[in-house]
Amino acid sequence: MEHSAGLTTGLVPTMGAFHEGHLQLMRAARIENDRVVVSLFVNPTQFGVGEDFERYPRNLDRDIALAESVGVDVLFAPDTQQIYPRPGCTIHVPVVTERWEGQIRPHHFSGVATVVCKLFHIVCCDVAYFGQKDLQQCIVIRRMIDDLNIPVRFSMQPTVREPDGLAMSSRNAYLTPEDRARAPMLQQLLQSVRKAIKEGNCTPDQLDKWLHSASTKLEIAGFSVDYFECIDLEDAHAVRDISRPCALIVAARIGRTRLIDNLLI
Ligand code: PAF
Repeated sequence: MEHSAGLTTGLVPTMGAFHEGHLQLMRAARIENDRVVVSLFVNPTQFGVGEDFERYPRNLDRDIALAESVGVDVLFAPDTQQIYPRPGCTIHVPVVTERWEGQIRPHHFSGVATVVCKLFHIVCCDVAYFGQKDLQQCIVIRRMIDDLNIPVRFSMQPTVREPDGLAMSSRNAYLTPEDRARAPMLQQLLQSVRKAIKEGNCTPDQLDKWLHSASTKLEIAGFSVDYFECIDLEDAHAVRDISRPCALIVAARIGRTRLIDNLLI
């Protein structure tokens, strides 16, 4: 696509299997732009060996209908050959990709940054919309835009939740009924740590104890916790001094499903 004088294009990059979270991003793009493009590409380079690339939910007809229902102008659904015609350049965003998700999924953020950069250039968008649900991804993309002087405005939209607090995610479809019943614990524990921070005397030691105790409660409930942390919003490093903008983040496995969530402080 080309930039047209005076007309703005909003891009919502997705991997499909739309839920209300995606639709909110599309609505935000619709309100703020003349044209709305949604990309739908299950990007193989951001999945590690043994991850869920093959079983990732795919339903193009349903996604087309949903995108139309919120006024999307273009649904761009390329195939792998179009995006990766040959082994090519990749983007490595240092430091912010080396912790949390990056440590557990070593090539994940390089795959994300590379495909998002390509999509920015293919679509020639002015604004790009991402969900806060993937907070570290937001930090990585914001950093890439900044470091590479990409002329795209980054917009992070609030996480959309089920009535019981579970963050909406295409991967929630993997949850068994028993695991689904326990999944809202992630958000409940994030809330309780944030409440303690706001109401209590939040010394570094005390924060450490609250984080540790929340993680232990998840383990007792049957989760396998990858991390429960408090991070700085600029570069995602762990913090115990909450005077700067920061967030609580959690990643945990229940059954065959890995869930992530976060809460801004
Ligand atoms: O958040 C996602 O769905 C993906 O990581 C993204 C941004 C579409 C890149 O493939």
